[in-house]
Amino acid sequence: MNTQKIIIVVDNDEARRNQLETVLSFVGEGFQTCSEDELFECFKQQESILTAILCGQLSENVINFVKKNPTYPFILHDVADKHSISNSVNVIGDLTAPLNYAQLTELIHHCHHYHNKLPTHRNGKSSTSLLRSLVGISEPMQQVRFLIEQVATTAASVLILGESGTGKEVVARNIHDLSERSKGPFVPVNCGAIPGELLESELFGHEKGSFTGAISTRKGRFELAEGGTLFLDEIGDMPQPMQVKLLRVLQERTFERIGGAKSIKADVRIIAATHQHLEHMIKDGGFREDLYYRLNVFPIETPPLRDRKEDIPLLLKELTNRFEIEQGQTVRFTDKAVESLQEHQWAGNVRELSNLIERMIIMYSDQVVNVSQLPRKYQHVEVEEYEPEYPEEIQERDAINELFAGFDYDDDEVDEDDSSNTFENEANNQLGVLPEEGINLKDYLADLEVSLVTQSLDKNDWVVARAAETLGMRRTTLVEKMRKYGLQK
Ligand SMILES: Nc1ncnc2c1ncn2[C@@H]1O[C@H](COP(=O)(O)OP(=O)(O)OP(=O)(O)O)[C@@H](O)[C@H]1O
Ligand SMILES: [Mg+2]
Repeated sequence: MNTQKIIIVVDNDEARRNQLETVLSFVGEGFQTCSEDELFECFKQQESILTAILCGQLSENVINFVKKNPTYPFILHDVADKHSISNSVNVIGDLTAPLNYAQLTELIHHCHHYHNKLPTHRNGKSSTSLLRSLVGISEPMQQVRFLIEQVATTAASVLILGESGTGKEVVARNIHDLSERSKGPFVPVNCGAIPGELLESELFGHEKGSFTGAISTRKGRFELAEGGTLFLDEIGDMPQPMQVKLLRVLQERTFERIGGAKSIKADVRIIAATHQHLEHMIKDGGFREDLYYRLNVFPIETPPLRDRKEDIPLLLKELTNRFEIEQGQTVRFTDKAVESLQEHQWAGNVRELSNLIERMIIMYSDQVVNVSQLPRKYQHVEVEEYEPEYPEEIQERDAINELFAGFDYDDDEVDEDDSSNTFENEANNQLGVLPEEGINLKDYLADLEVSLVTQSLDKNDWVVARAAETLGMRRTTLVEKMRKYGLQK
């Protein structure tokens, strides 16, 4: 098998393309030429690509393609407007005209080096245990994990984009933890939660007396993040004047405290995140384009939960485990309940899932939740019949339901006027009425259950199979109950 990686030459200009082809043939590299429109197809067809040399005026599609394919290094050649692409981490160099052999071979060498540095895919499984907190086996999550590993060890700014609750902060923390700055601090700032007028002081700090209320000198988050990572969450909410100031720090890597004259060096890696469409905001004048390009060196998109339903069982496991560790309580879900949750649209993504689990733990602590126990809006599959392999609590609950269902059924047959007897009537009468002082429902139901079970056993000479039949339950369920309540002849 030929293992030589080939070079794709992307150029709409025929003369320049021919020139490059001649040089590449001379150097002895395998290559294929294509137009910009054919680029995507070309990457799909070719199994082993070393790099693509992008020439001339680049379309927006090509620029996006580069940013979305960080596993490949790209080389620019004769590109007029480099501004929008040259700071992407995977653009490794620039061929200047006239082409020369030394420059080309050096860049090709860099490309090989780039490939060798890539984390191995290993069927998409992360090689790092740290990434365990980022649960998911779906294709989009594997891609996110791959991007994290790829960018973590560089100094590049990262922009994390995704709907609310999709795990943007989790991604940011993972990047920090895998980076060389992991021993330094990870400092998050929610730009949306801090009022505009306080944000400057929050980020850059202030000197004593620099404004009313500045009673002492205070370090800002930039200083606190020294040697580590500053996570600018909800960057889309940052007011315009602050955007200008942030841009300056990113360009010059220095800042001053409010009211301070001293320039402070910012040795800080920036990770920004937002759920907003910054490109739309740029068009509407709400976000600065120059800042966007500074931040968007390496974009990572966190996928919505509805696009990765196969991750839901794993997330349920992970999140219930976390609650168990934090609160000592947990909950389990039947297969049908999980199936139902996989049908849900999850507007609030993983955060919504986490909130649901918390609620289920409050209501059904240490029990098994079936479809019918899920809040109505999460019920997307038919409520199933009783399943005998449920744990005892569920059996008990079903059995009690069966008992009451039995009353309703019998009611039709009972003469309404015959109030002289039957336990059923009594029970039904009591059922609808809550005593003034309230009741302990659990004890009440247990007493009722014991009474009915004992009556049935007595009536059937303690032949368990027959008594179970009278009670409309399985023999094994009745045996369980007898054991639980210590009932014997
Ligand atoms: N892939 C994942 N694996 C495990 N837990 C996750 C994952 N994604 C998100 N979570 C959990 O979901 C919750 C929300 O995640 P996070 O705060 O990172 O989302 P976000 O995108 O920053 O949301 P918001 O836009 O609302 O701030 C957190 O409790 C987080 O631990
Ligand atoms: Mg967040």
